[in-house]
Amino acid sequence: MRWTPMAAAGAPPEPLVQVRGLKQYFPLGSTWVDRLLGRGSRWVHAVDGVDLDIHHRETLGLVGESGCGKSTLARTILRLYEPTAGSIKFAGRELTTLSQMEMRQMRREMQMIFQDPFASLNPRRTVEQIVGLPLLIQGVPRADIRRRVAELLEKVGLSPSHIDRYPHQFSGGQRQRIGIARALAVNPRFVVADEPVSALDVSIQAQILRLLQDLQAEMGLAYLFISHDLAVISYVSDRIAVMYLGRIVELAPAETLFAEPLHPYTRALISAVPRVGSRGQVRERILLSGSPPTPIDPPKGCRFYSRCFLKEKNETCRLVAPDLKEVTPGHRVACHAVAGTL
Ligand SMILES: Nc1ncnc2c1ncn2[C@@H]1O[C@H](COP(=O)(O)OP(=O)(O)OP(=O)(O)O)[C@@H](O)[C@H]1O
Ligand code: SF4
Ligand SMILES: [Mg+2]
Repeated sequence: MRWTPMAAAGAPPEPLVQVRGLKQYFPLGSTWVDRLLGRGSRWVHAVDGVDLDIHHRETLGLVGESGCGKSTLARTILRLYEPTAGSIKFAGRELTTLSQMEMRQMRREMQMIFQDPFASLNPRRTVEQIVGLPLLIQGVPRADIRRRVAELLEKVGLSPSHIDRYPHQFSGGQRQRIGIARALAVNPRFVVADEPVSALDVSIQAQILRLLQDLQAEMGLAYLFISHDLAVISYVSDRIAVMYLGRIVELAPAETLFAEPLHPYTRALISAVPRVGSRGQVRERILLSGSPPTPIDPPKGCRFYSRCFLKEKNETCRLVAPDLKEVTPGHRVACHAVAGTL
């Protein structure tokens, strides 16, 4: 089952979110060895030059192995982390230069749903307090908050009569519904969902994904949907971005990516999905050797070089980082062999 693309007729042509050259480096400090060798502080290059557009009402899926920088990218786009470099535009407005006060107002438009529905809810607060907190921060009068929270509970499929309960009185799926209600309380246009179903039983996952789909249609939301599960990503996404060691290596409409993955990393990821290929043949499994290089001192050239299995790979790959180039309309790939630049 697949979501119907939401970037429908009538949507403004300018993307809702425009990210350019985004970098997020975390300082590691320096050890005595660094000081002895005269090296300065070292940095984790968690996000290292990302360009991305997210359109109104679409779901952009973000996939990649653990530690490649998915959560950091999402949090930096929301300015929960101060970017090291780059530009983030939301509805045409540059976010990186906004003051904390201006950013607080912008947060109305941009919300986040977290992976762990238990850890992300304060166990000592009632549902009314949890879901109502963003409203309180935005200055909604207390008298209106209870009514609004009851409406939100109904919207996410919970009984408004449970408004005074605490998180431990709900199941995992219900707690994630509370997290969704909290994210939607301030009527955002853009929601980051970071692994929102990976902590849930498979039977509950489908219900939550369907709820997110219904809410998207009803409220005109755009999602950045992060998951390491390709079945989930293919189910929810209009387009998919594949991330490897801090960079986007391939970006395409969901169907195109699954039917015709071009980057060798994407090919390996998709070969692991147990299904028959588009022309009826069973896909051959591509097993990658080794693990990704460390993001502390990432390679200068192609970051996938050490694991690339293409026979075309050569010194250019090792020395020159490939740009994310459009190879067919809407399909971008960062690989010299695919782009014909070897
Ligand atoms: N606050 C931080 N300080 C230092 N390093 C960090 C910090 N947050 C993340 N990192 C590092 O940045 C890199 C990217 O981490 P991130 O959590 O964004 O990856 P991810 O793709 O979301 O992984 P996962 O799938 O496991 O959630 C990792 O090497 C991680 O150790
Ligand atoms: S640029 Fe070279 S090393 Fe990198 S994925 Fe393409 S062929 Fe492989
Ligand atoms: Mg993460």
